[in-house]
Amino acid sequence: MNDDLDFDETAYLTNNQDVRLAVQRGIFASGREHYVRYGRAEGRKGRPLVARAPLDAEAFDEGTYLWLHPDVRAAVAAGQWASGWEHYQKAGWESGMRIAGLQQATSHALRDYTKLVRDLIEQYPHDYPLAMARAVGSLSLAGYHEAGDHQIAVLKLAGLQNGQAVYDLACGSGRTAAALQRHGWTGNYRGADLVKELVDYARVQCPTFDFFVHRDYSLRAPDASLDMVYAWSLFTHLQLEEIYLYAQDAHRVLKPGGIFAFSVLTLDAAAHRDLLITRANAFKSGAPMPHLDFFVSRSMIEILMTDMLGFTLQDWIDADDPRATGSVGFGQAVAIYRK
Ligand SMILES: C[S@@+](CC[C@H](N)C(=O)[O-])C[C@H]1O[C@@H](n2cnc3c(N)ncnc32)[C@H](O)[C@@H]1O
Repeated sequence: MNDDLDFDETAYLTNNQDVRLAVQRGIFASGREHYVRYGRAEGRKGRPLVARAPLDAEAFDEGTYLWLHPDVRAAVAAGQWASGWEHYQKAGWESGMRIAGLQQATSHALRDYTKLVRDLIEQYPHDYPLAMARAVGSLSLAGYHEAGDHQIAVLKLAGLQNGQAVYDLACGSGRTAAALQRHGWTGNYRGADLVKELVDYARVQCPTFDFFVHRDYSLRAPDASLDMVYAWSLFTHLQLEEIYLYAQDAHRVLKPGGIFAFSVLTLDAAAHRDLLITRANAFKSGAPMPHLDFFVSRSMIEILMTDMLGFTLQDWIDADDPRATGSVGFGQAVAIYRK
């Protein structure tokens, strides 16, 4: 056979599933044989159609793609592909492989948070730390540190100890991680977020912790491997089905007895009712707020977490209950569940 042939076996089989079947059945020795005998004359392409950009380049993340497709991860490790990105462009896209649970252009969280973070970076060109603090809802650096300290107080209440393996779901710019570091906590930390700029900044703040972009409704950790998963101000911005998917996967990655702690907005709190009214007015005036806020009730969370997912309630702290931090309310209700 002509070795100068402009031909790529993998791309050809990916793009021509009928040929892949025929090769599997032994009708042809290879895609190449089919191409030479029939495919070329039929006008089939022997190369990847083009190394095109995926439909949603913003959503592609190498680590998430490799996590979702262990076979591609193995092929990259074996040198068959230079990267997951190369695989996706040349074969994965054509065969409809998922790049993330959040890949749809309509994914509100990725779209809204990416815009919010970039707008803030532009707004504060000489104060990157302030932009990073504002991106996660703190108005000042002092507020950023104080909120971090409060988060640590709640984590300790939930049972945080040195030496544990913890997962910071939606780690943002590293507000909690930096506070863990300030408080001298030691253990195995992993933090994941959608937005690369935030993850990069968290990494700068806490160089010994493990941060990564992850854009799937899953936790990048093996089964039953973690002592604690926490998610501060994440479920406050997601729809119920998204909360369900994350909570379900948190259950998978926790060790038996492991803790899942998270915060929510509930209409039990006067401040949250006010927020709902502010949002409603903004919505009506045609200038909606930059991202989704989602409101739940304690009973709703209880059904989801216990009846549907098999967690056990360990503690529930209302938004204004000073028990959360030892001095003032946490500002959001805190749910603490045990696997
Ligand atoms: C209010 S910030 C809180 C960040 C951090 N937990 C903290 O308390 O500092 C919300 C974070 O959730 C992230 N986020 C939003 N939707 C997400 C999703 N579906 N999956 C993972 N992270 C998400 C955003 O990028 C943002 O960093």
